[in-house]
Amino acid sequence: MKLNNGYEIPAPGFGTFKTPDGEVCVNAVREAIATGYIHIDTAAVYGNECSVGQGVRESGVPREKLFITSKLWNTERGYDTTLRACEKTLQDLGMDYLDLYLIHWPANELQFGSRAAAINVDTWRAMERLADEKVVRSVGLSNFYPSHIAPVLVSANIVPAVDQIEYHPGLLQEDTIALCREKGILVEAWSPLGRGHLLEDPLLCEIGARYGKSSAQVLLRWCIQNEVLPLVKSVHAERIRENFDIFSFVLTAEEMASIATLPPFRYGSHPDTATF
Ligand code: A2P
Repeated sequence: MKLNNGYEIPAPGFGTFKTPDGEVCVNAVREAIATGYIHIDTAAVYGNECSVGQGVRESGVPREKLFITSKLWNTERGYDTTLRACEKTLQDLGMDYLDLYLIHWPANELQFGSRAAAINVDTWRAMERLADEKVVRSVGLSNFYPSHIAPVLVSANIVPAVDQIEYHPGLLQEDTIALCREKGILVEAWSPLGRGHLLEDPLLCEIGARYGKSSAQVLLRWCIQNEVLPLVKSVHAERIRENFDIFSFVLTAEEMASIATLPPFRYGSHPDTATF
């Protein structure tokens, strides 16, 4: 897929949330890259950046052929702290640049009252500096909904390249997607499998069976056809490979629409009520 600054971003991305640091993570990243994933997504708070870096190095694929994303954790919001946090992330990854750096969660009014928007604006200024200095190629947001995005855009010199949000059938995120489309912000999906809870769904299994595919593959394909970039996590080689095999079939318009009618369901926190 293409970002608003001209860079390309490969889909699907390989997720590492909850992937334990150490051998499990190193092996998962190596396995993913051997499978063909070139986009790896991590975050400071996942605690596995060192292992992601090691997996990348052990893959034998040159760094510049890969697309690496990390995220600024909530305790580091603000201008100077953001600059320092990015430095630490690069150190832990053992890399000298990131392809994409995201603000992991917006400061919200529940925690920060009327200061919330100003904190996000300040943090965004630091992200812009990192992009200007080419420490990171692209900068973006995560878990920002329209009420968080709008104040950032008012004073932004760089429009965020990406907004990474929870997205899957049952959580269609129509308002956020509409705003992102209007502004040229690519939407990425975390938990595109509904953290596994959608995998037994009879409709998804039945549609998958028509193509000889699993419900997981149907969910990832559904994201791609909606032009949302899925980030999919697994620590199992077989599933890592299964989740990459999503380009040999196409869901019909009717199938796409029927999947969108699955009942409402949110797995993770809402950014307005998150207290972490
Ligand atoms: P595991 O890492 O043990 O394979 P989401 O991306 O929606 O958050 O879902 C991730 C969860 O789904 C993880 O618990 C992962 O477990 C599991 N998972 C990933 N891919 C598959 C798959 N193809 N089939 C079944 N479960 C999967």
